[in-house]
Parts: sequence; C-alpha cells; structure tokens
Amino acid sequence: MSIILAIESSCDETSVSICNNGKITANVIANQTIHQNYGGVIPELASRVHQQNIVPAVEQALSDSKVNKKDIDAVAFTRGPGLLGSLLVGVSFAKAFALAQDLPLIAVNHMHAHILAHFIGEKNPTFPFICLTVSGGHTQLVLVKDFNSMEIIGETIDDAAGEAFDKTAKILDLPYPGGPMIDKFAKEGDLLKFKFAVPKIDGLNFSFSGFKTSILYFLKSEIAKNPNFITENLNDLCASVQHNIVNILLNKLKKAADQYNIKEIAIAGGVSANSGLRDGLNSMAAVEGWEVYIPAFEHCTDNAAMVAITGYYKYLAGDFVDQTITPAARMEF
Ligand code: KG4
Ligand code: ZN
Repeated sequence: MSIILAIESSCDETSVSICNNGKITANVIANQTIHQNYGGVIPELASRVHQQNIVPAVEQALSDSKVNKKDIDAVAFTRGPGLLGSLLVGVSFAKAFALAQDLPLIAVNHMHAHILAHFIGEKNPTFPFICLTVSGGHTQLVLVKDFNSMEIIGETIDDAAGEAFDKTAKILDLPYPGGPMIDKFAKEGDLLKFKFAVPKIDGLNFSFSGFKTSILYFLKSEIAKNPNFITENLNDLCASVQHNIVNILLNKLKKAADQYNIKEIAIAGGVSANSGLRDGLNSMAAVEGWEVYIPAFEHCTDNAAMVAITGYYKYLAGDFVDQTITPAARMEF
C-alpha cells in the first residue's frame, strides 16, 4: 500500500494530486489567469502565483481524497524541464514537506509524466508503444519500453507544436493561450482553404519555425490588399493552420510507427487536447490498424495526476532522491 502526494509547478499551473495505491484520488489544478493580460506566461509572475497557490492546493487535495498528512508515504514532484522560478516553488515545497514528515522524495521528469498519464485510467497501452508528446515547450516522438525506460526517437529542431499554435494565434490577434482558440474557430472553417509551406526535415525530427514565418508572410501580403482579411477569414485560417500542423505531426508519427513496426500509438501533452489531432489520429488508426491512446482532456494539459502516477511507478521501483536535489530547467530524458 502507498499514498503519494504529487506536486506540479513547471509552468503556469499549480497542481497537487494524491495517488492511493495506483488510483488518483485528487487532482487539484489552480490555473494562473493573470498571464492572459500579457499574451504569454511571465515567469516572474508565475513563480509568485505558485507561492500563493501551493499551500491551499495541497490542503484541497488532502481534503478531496480524505487523506491525513500522516498517512502519506512519499512526495513526488516535477524536477524539470520547465521555468526555473516555477520549479523552485514546487521542489522547495516538496523538500520541506518531506523533511517535516520524514518522507522519501521522488523526482519526476515532466515529459515522462505526460506519457505516463496514459496509466491513470482503465485503458492502458502495452509496452513497447510510441508516444507523440506535444506541448507548449516540446514536440517529441518517444519509444516507451517500460514505465521507467523511454527513448526520444525524434524531436523538434526549433519551435514546439504548441508554440506553432500559440504564435500563429498571436499573429491572428487571438488571446493567449492560442491553441484552444484556434481549435475552437477551426471547427467552423474550411481546412483546405489556405496552404502554407510545409517544412522538409529528414528522419523523425520536426521543424515549425519556417511554417510560422510562411503564415506571417502570407498574411502580410493579404492584409496589404484587404485590411480586414483576418477577421473575414478567421475560421478558414484557423482550420487551415490546424490542418497543416496536424498533418506534419501525423506524417512523422506514421513514419515512426512504420520504422519501429509498432501499432500501439499514444499522444500526450497540451496539444493532444486538439480536436483536429484527435480526429486525425483516429482516422489514421483505422487505416493503419493501430490501437490508439488519447488522454482524457484533464490529463492533456499540465496536471499533478500525471506526476502522481509516475511517482507511483518510481516508488515501486525504489527510485528516490535525497534532500540535496535541485530543479533542472533543462532536464534531460
Ligand atoms: O502540456 P502543456 O499544458 O504545457 C506544457 O508543458 O507546455 O501544453 C500547453 C500547450 C499550449 O501551447 C497550448 O496552446 C496547447 O498546449 N494546447 C492546445 C490545445 N489545448 C492546449 N493546442 C491546440 N489545440 C488545443 N485544443
Ligand atoms: Zn506539460
């Protein structure tokens, strides 16, 4: 039996979860809406708000799962990658809590946690599987061999897929975070209306910076002819942008599945909430004979439940760290 308290504070969500013997019994997420006023996450503000949110979030999680502090067996926390100031709040809290309660500490890689979110519910992938992890900071194809054994087989050489969504949304004058806004307007638009330059990158790597530039130049020339071009074509622009990004992602995913001869396929991370990606993956799965795993919406974007489940498997493996641990903004796999 094990009860694990998990803390996630890598970016702008303060989240606390409790995992009771492999089952999530609480997942509190305190969103930081303040960043909407600035069009992006302001690191300095994010760490201050984590500081305000973390104690109430822990109390809420304990109360939601009817767990007493004294019943906890270990504290898991996101060590990185992420914003250093944000990580420092979660890591320092976890260390202090563990010290006060005399508990072991479990350091979790945020990208591992996004992948192991697939072990929260009833339908779990079987090993080995390929996971396309797409978030605001990362775009990775990962060969997942076991709970604690994963290998990056492809990744972006510049911007992440989430950044491509967010930066395009900014160009289209949509509020932050742009990904969900593009998804919303895309539902009403024609996905084949506009074509943009698709990057040609060998192997299993991705590139999104050229794609974003091609949208920028296209819009500049259209706006010169018609100043209302964006507002008059917003739905079609969003649908076409989304369609292009999803195609880039799914083509590489298919290439990876073929190369490794694997039919167990998962997606994870904030962009896996995108309806175009979810629909496209299901269609591709029907053609390719894949078994696909798509996380529940609440486990796509940042949350501590995914840290708690990762912590649980590390607990079973006896993988602990001591009080000298520090956050790692650029944590490797
Ligand atoms: O995993 P996540 O919450 O945070 C990071 O670890 O980065 O991912 C956030 C990213 C943002 O870029 C956001 O725009 C994107 O996920 N995102 C979406 C959608 N929901 C969130 N992108 C496209 N469509 C969505 N529905
Ligand atoms: Zn994330």
